[in-house]
Amino acid sequence: MADFTLKEKSRAFKGEMTPPGDKSISHRAIILGSLGRGKTRASGFLASRDTLATVDAFRSMGVEINVTAGEVEISGNGLSGLREPREAIDAENSGTTARLLAGVLSAQSFRSTITGDSSLRRRPMSRVTVPLRMMGAGISGEGETLPLHITGSELRGIDYESPVASAQVKSSLLLAGLYAAGRTSVTEPERTRDHTERMLRHFGVPVEASGTRVSVSPAGEFPGTELEIPSDISSAAFFIVAALVNPGSEIIVKNVGLNPLRMGVLDILREMGADISVENRREHCGEPVGDVIARHCALRGVRVEGDAVSRAIDELPVISVAACFAEGETVISGAGELRVKETDRISAMSGELSKLGADIRETRDGMVINGTGELCGARCESRGDHRIAMSLAVAATQARGETVIGDAGCVSISFPEFFPLFEALGKPK
Ligand code: S3P
Repeated sequence: MADFTLKEKSRAFKGEMTPPGDKSISHRAIILGSLGRGKTRASGFLASRDTLATVDAFRSMGVEINVTAGEVEISGNGLSGLREPREAIDAENSGTTARLLAGVLSAQSFRSTITGDSSLRRRPMSRVTVPLRMMGAGISGEGETLPLHITGSELRGIDYESPVASAQVKSSLLLAGLYAAGRTSVTEPERTRDHTERMLRHFGVPVEASGTRVSVSPAGEFPGTELEIPSDISSAAFFIVAALVNPGSEIIVKNVGLNPLRMGVLDILREMGADISVENRREHCGEPVGDVIARHCALRGVRVEGDAVSRAIDELPVISVAACFAEGETVISGAGELRVKETDRISAMSGELSKLGADIRETRDGMVINGTGELCGARCESRGDHRIAMSLAVAATQARGETVIGDAGCVSISFPEFFPLFEALGKPK
């Protein structure tokens, strides 16, 4: 799909939906399922472009992986069961694939190359190559960006203080740590999503965590397991904000992953005055899950800073959309990481929402938005970034006249069914 066009304002989002499986957890299911021995079955698996890049990477290293509707079955060959891939591994648009694999590949007994699409080839890789080299990894060249040429080596554990709050960095080192001699510890400036830690434990691998520090010791073989992957809070967020800003809306988003380190979006929206409740709380495979109910209501501007930023890092684009419809000013700061996502998301949201008439300006590490209550339809661009495309679709629901989002097909990176679901739930009144 090239463009997405939304013709009229005035829709109400009503009904129940179950968003697709969590992207971060789906990647980790493939990785740990491939490194375990024997069968791992994961229900709720997200089959999207990003996660299928991880599937293809492990298939190219000899792992049998069957993806069927909403499920994946992996026949893991054990920690030392990967074989040298014939070609470069293409992580496509997926930072998680590239960075987590860099950790795994650094410890293998073969050479490999990781590359990606033009967006991923611009994104920083030194955040993983610097500490992996400290562990003894053989990565040739500068290691600043893809492609990375890796010669697998015997690794040693390190005690690393990461300058960035990044779950990808932490996870890359923990995965390398499964193979390293001695203990591998990572301390982060803020705690980030701990899906790797939770899933490792579910596979029976001990992980120690205390404050912002996590550690693993070399794992022996671990067996495959059964996993239930919850729906992605990051995908749910587009529907939650759509319901909040469109009068007459009430939606129930089912089976959503409620990991505390991903809850920034609900905390920020509640601080904005959002009418959001959570029911039916339960736990699946060490991850908290529940149903989220969101209703239209008036919002007010807030300051988004501190640890809320890393706990809502992927939802800040859609939070900037909510801020357009809130009373007063919203200031997002300390979010410089947004500049090195699939696109520079500070520049993208400021530039594209401005085209729709929003009062938004970019700062070095964030955005300042003055709620205007209504936008006006215009042509805007996803810039090839799935979360920008979906955020603009939400903005368009409260824009007068027609909005066209260029290059909207990129939603398939994390949410292939986004537009049909959006049209089904958000019916013109
Ligand atoms: C992810 C971590 C975050 C997030 C990304 C997924 C993960 O990236 O933005 O969408 O699955 O570990 P960083 O680690 O770069 O913050």
